[in-house]
Amino acid sequence: MARVASIPVDHPAARALELDGLASADGLVDGCRACDLWARATHGVFGEGSSSARLMLVGEQPGDREDLAGRPFVGPAGRVLDDALEEAGIDRVDTFVTNVVKHFKWRPSGKKRLHDKPSREQVRACRPWLDLELELVRPEIMVLLGATAAQAILGSSFRVTVDHGKLLDPELPDGPRRLATLHPSAILRARTPGDREEMRRTLVADLGVAAALLTATPQHRQQLRPARLVEAALHGQ
Ligand code: URA
Repeated sequence: MARVASIPVDHPAARALELDGLASADGLVDGCRACDLWARATHGVFGEGSSSARLMLVGEQPGDREDLAGRPFVGPAGRVLDDALEEAGIDRVDTFVTNVVKHFKWRPSGKKRLHDKPSREQVRACRPWLDLELELVRPEIMVLLGATAAQAILGSSFRVTVDHGKLLDPELPDGPRRLATLHPSAILRARTPGDREEMRRTLVADLGVAAALLTATPQHRQQLRPARLVEAALHGQ
C-alpha cells in the first residue's frame, strides 16, 4: 500500500501499513515502543470496528478495563458511549472506535490504577496509529470525545465546552469532517445527577449531529475505499 506522508517510515504503524490491514496493526500496536507508556501497560489497544465505518469515534486512551481486555471502550465509559450512540440512532457495529493514545497511562492509588493524562509528546508519538486507522477506514466523520482527542486533532486552543457539536470541515479535501463532544468519562465524573443528565443530553445531541449528516449524505466513498479493497484482496474475494 502507498506510503502515508504523516507516518514516519521507522514507526511501527508504517510496518502495519506495509502489511496491509487492520488485523496486523492490532499485534504491532502491542509491541509499539514509540513512547514509554508500553512499559506499564498490559496491552496496546488498537481501534475496533467496521473497516467500512462512515463514523470514527476517537477517545483519549484505554482505561483500566480496556488495558486488560485489549479493546477500546469496553468499561464504564464504553457503556455510557453505547447508550448515547443508541439514543442518537447510531449502531456501534457501524462505527470504528479508537483512541489518540493506544497504551493506558496510569498512576497507582492503593490497589487501583488511576487514569493519568497523556503528555503532548505521548500523543504525538502515537499519532501515526490514528493516521493509519484513518487511512484504512476512511470515515466520513470523526467524532472527537473530550479535550485530549479534540486538541490532538484540532489544536491546543480548541475548547470542547464552547465548540462541541459543530461540524468542522476536513483538514484535507478527502479527509473526514470533524466534530468534538464531551468524553463519556466526564459524564461519569459529573458532580450532581442534574449535571450528569445535562452532559449526557449534550453527548447524545452532538452524536445526533453526526447521525443526521450520515443520513443526509450518500455513501459517496463506498466503492473507493482502499481498506475494503485491501481486505477483499487479503481474503481472496
Ligand atoms: N476512555 C477512553 O478515552 N477510551 C477508552 O477506550 C476507554 C475510556
